[in-house]
Amino acid sequence: MSTRNAHITGWGMAVPDQVLTNDDIAKMVDTTDEWIVSRTGIHERRIANSDQTTASLASEAALRALEVANLHPGDLDMIIVATSSPEYIFPATACVVQDRIGAVKAYAFDLLAACTGFVYGINLASQAIKSNGANNILVIGSETLTRLVNWKDRNTCILFGDGAGAFVLQASEEPGGVLSAVLRSDGSGANLLSVPGGGSPHPASMQTLYDGLHYIQMNGREVFRFATRVMVEATFETVETAQMTMDDIQLLIPHQANQRIIEAAARGLNYPMEQVMVNLDRYGNTSTASIPIATVEAIEQGRLKPGDNTVLVAFGGGLTWGAALIQWTGPLPFQKKVSPRLVRGYARGRSILARLRRRIEGFIWGNG
Ligand code: COA
Repeated sequence: MSTRNAHITGWGMAVPDQVLTNDDIAKMVDTTDEWIVSRTGIHERRIANSDQTTASLASEAALRALEVANLHPGDLDMIIVATSSPEYIFPATACVVQDRIGAVKAYAFDLLAACTGFVYGINLASQAIKSNGANNILVIGSETLTRLVNWKDRNTCILFGDGAGAFVLQASEEPGGVLSAVLRSDGSGANLLSVPGGGSPHPASMQTLYDGLHYIQMNGREVFRFATRVMVEATFETVETAQMTMDDIQLLIPHQANQRIIEAAARGLNYPMEQVMVNLDRYGNTSTASIPIATVEAIEQGRLKPGDNTVLVAFGGGLTWGAALIQWTGPLPFQKKVSPRLVRGYARGRSILARLRRRIEGFIWGNG
C-alpha cells in the first residue's frame, strides 16, 4: 500500500512596513531600549497600519506561499488560520481569507491555541493529508496582537508585534514532510496569559472596557518558567518519536518570544545556538506567525534546504505547547506555472456577485 506524506511545498510571509522601536516605546511607558534588549532580545517590531488586519496579512502571506508551491487557490481543500487576534469573534478569519484568495473548494476555520496554534495547525493538516482527507492545505499564522496590547502596560507592550506567515502542505508519496508531532495543553494555567474580556463570562461592556479586560494580561515570570521547560520536553519527544536524535536536526525553529527563553531551551537540549533560527530582534513576538516568518527567513538565508530536518517548537497561552519535526522538501514538480495572484481579482468579482445574488434573492423571496 502506498504511503501518503504531508510535504511543505510553499511558504510566505507578510509583515507591515511600520516599525516601532524600543526607543519609540520608551516614549510611551517607563522603560529603556537597554532593559528591553537585555530581558527579551527584541529591538523593534512591526505594527499594522489602519488598513491592515489579521485577514489582510494572512491573505498576503497565503498568496506568497501559493506562488512558491505553484498551486492554484481553487485547488485548496482546507484553510486553517491559527490566530489569537482574529478578524471577528465569528465568523472565522479563515473564511475571510478563503473568499479573498478565491479558494472556492476549501473549507475554512480558525484554530485557537495561542502561540502554539501554527504547530497545532501543521499537525492537523498533516493528519488530514495522511488519512486521505485532503490533498492541498493552507496553514496560516496571522496576528495583529498590537491591537490587544495595553500601551500603558510596560510588562506586555514591549513584547508583541504584527505579521503573518503561511505554509502550503501537499500530499505526495515521496518520503519526507511532517515526520512527527507532539502537542500538549494545560488549562490550569489559563490565567497566566489571556485576554479575559469580550467572551462569555465577561461580555463587552463599559465596565470591561474600564477594567481593561480587552487587553492582554500576563504573568511574565510564570510564562517564562513554563516556556523553558516545555520547549525542551516537546523537542526531545518529537525527535524521539521520529526515531532520531538532536544530531539529526539541522535547524531548530522556535517560537520567537524571548531570546533568553530560546537560549535556555538550546542549553537544555545541548544544541548549538548557531543552529537555532532567531529573528525576534526585528519582529518581537508575533505569536502564531513567528514560526512561519522565521522559517521563510531561514530559507532566504540558505539555512534551511531540501533534505534538512527541522523542528518547529512553540508554547503559549492556554497553556499550550508542541513541536513538529519536518524533513524539508519544497515545491512538488509541476508542468505549468500558475498565478495565484491573478485569481485574487477574479475572487473579488466572484465575492461581489455572490453578495449581489443574495440581495436579489432576498428582494425576490422577501427577507422573512
Ligand atoms: N521596562 C522596565 N522595567 C520593567 C519592564 C519594562 N518594560 N517590565 C517590567 N519591568 C520591571 C517589573 O515591574 C519588575 O519590577 P519590580 O521588581 O519592581 O516589580 C522588574 O522589571 C522585573 O520584572 P520581571 O517580571 O522579573 O522581569 P523579567 O526578567 O522576568 O522579564 C519579561 C519580564 C516579561 C520580559 C519576561 O518575564 C518574559 O519574557 N516572560 C515570558 C513572556 C512571554 O514570552 N510571553 C508570551 C508567551 S507566548
